Amino acid sequence: MSELNIAVLGGGVVGLTTAIELQKLYRNANIDLIASGFQSDTTSSVAAGLFRPGTSFCGPNEEITRRWINDAYRYWDDLRNTSEGALAGVTEVSGYIFSSKYPNIVRNHYLENLVPVYRPATEKELKLCPGNWKYGSFFTTIVTTCDYYLPWATKKFLEKGGKIQKHHIKDIASISTGYDVIVNCTGLGAKWLCNDNKLVPIRGQVIKVEAPWIRTFFYGDNDTYIIPGFNSVTLGGCRQYESYDDNVNKYDSLSIRERCEALVPNLKSAKTIKELVGLRPHRSPVRVEKEVRHCNGQKIKIVHNYGHGGYGVTTAPGTALYACELVRESLAGNSKL
Ligand SMILES: Cc1cc2nc3c(=O)[nH]c(=O)nc-3n(C[C@H](O)[C@H](O)[C@H](O)COP(=O)(O)OP(=O)(O)OC[C@H]3O[C@@H](n4cnc5c(N)ncnc54)[C@H](O)[C@@H]3O)c2cc1C
Ligand SMILES: *[C@@H]1O[C@H](CO)[C@@H](O)[C@H](O)[C@H]1NC(C)=O
Ligand SMILES: *[C@@H]1O[C@H](CO)[C@@H](O)[C@H](O)[C@H]1NC(C)=O
Ligand SMILES: *[C@@H]1O[C@H](CO)[C@@H](O)[C@H](O)[C@H]1NC(C)=O
Repeated sequence: MSELNIAVLGGGVVGLTTAIELQKLYRNANIDLIASGFQSDTTSSVAAGLFRPGTSFCGPNEEITRRWINDAYRYWDDLRNTSEGALAGVTEVSGYIFSSKYPNIVRNHYLENLVPVYRPATEKELKLCPGNWKYGSFFTTIVTTCDYYLPWATKKFLEKGGKIQKHHIKDIASISTGYDVIVNCTGLGAKWLCNDNKLVPIRGQVIKVEAPWIRTFFYGDNDTYIIPGFNSVTLGGCRQYESYDDNVNKYDSLSIRERCEALVPNLKSAKTIKELVGLRPHRSPVRVEKEVRHCNGQKIKIVHNYGHGGYGVTTAPGTALYACELVRESLAGNSKL
């Protein structure tokens, strides 16, 4: 009986998390993780990493979407609660979301019965920040700093015998030989690989600042957010639909600073560490599906796992577990098992 060979494409939070979950499922498989970029070259490293699925986030149906989110929360919360939690950059954090206009914005049907605390802000709390805040919620959730999590996950993967290859895949035929299944976690890269027109970039820009006195997160109007992580505080942001511009834009920088300092004035003295741009791989629904391709007379089994948009850090472990199930289904009947 020969061994099972699996390729995972993509070295962001989705690819790495899927690869380490596959190792748990198939202890003796050869698993290769192939990507053109790692760590600071991924969208994942731009993220603030707050666990907060958008209310519009969706998988194929409500039940599966809920399962992804609940499984993901359990994964992050369990990891946080181990001695590895700090190494992996995972911790608990609390904060506020405010809106001056719409009560719906401060509600989140995915989080309300999942996280330990999710409640309306009190009148007093609505006055914590300058501005005319009419609606607000306070909640406790998890934040994952990818500057820690990606190296941690890489180390786990290598320790368990995983192999990493750095190269850019132009088409599936070039890598299919020898793999029993290929798991596609290429984020926005899937747009070109798959000719997937449903996948669009939503451009985001952030400023990572040094402000260790900020222990609470804040969301305000107009895509304004302040999220403390392990080594910095992330100030954001913007959401520019279908923009492929991956350069830092100075007008966005000025606007982010202005909006964040208006919300939390003591950020004025926070030193900038770096400014980053990321293209969120948005697809509705997120695609976690299996497929069988015929390519040069060969049958290739693929499991897709991409299109997490602005919520990939939040949901990666949930879709990873689901992708593992699909891998198992697609290998059912494989003589190597
Ligand atoms: C400003 C900003 C803030 C964000 N904040 C949050 C947040 O607070 N919480 C949250 O949950 N999410 C947040 N996100 C979203 C999150 O960053 C993404 O959903 C997540 O990073 C997607 O992960 P991924 O692994 O699919 O993609 P990526 O991290 O982009 O990884 C894709 C991988 O595929 C590889 N690849 C692509 N094409 C090819 C190819 N052809 N050949 C070989 N390799 C290839 C790349 O090199 C890379 O390794 C934010 C995003 C931005 C931009
Ligand atoms: C994990 O959770 C348990 C029970 O809630 C707690 O007693 C323990 O201190 C936690 N461990 C870590 C490392 O956080
Ligand atoms: C990702 O999936 C698509 C199928 O939708 C395929 O075209 C593409 O080649 C896959 N990526 C790789 C490198 O296998
Ligand atoms: C958000 O943007 C709108 C339109 O530009 C503006 O009127 C409003 O004052 C902004 N809100 C805050 C809190 O800055």
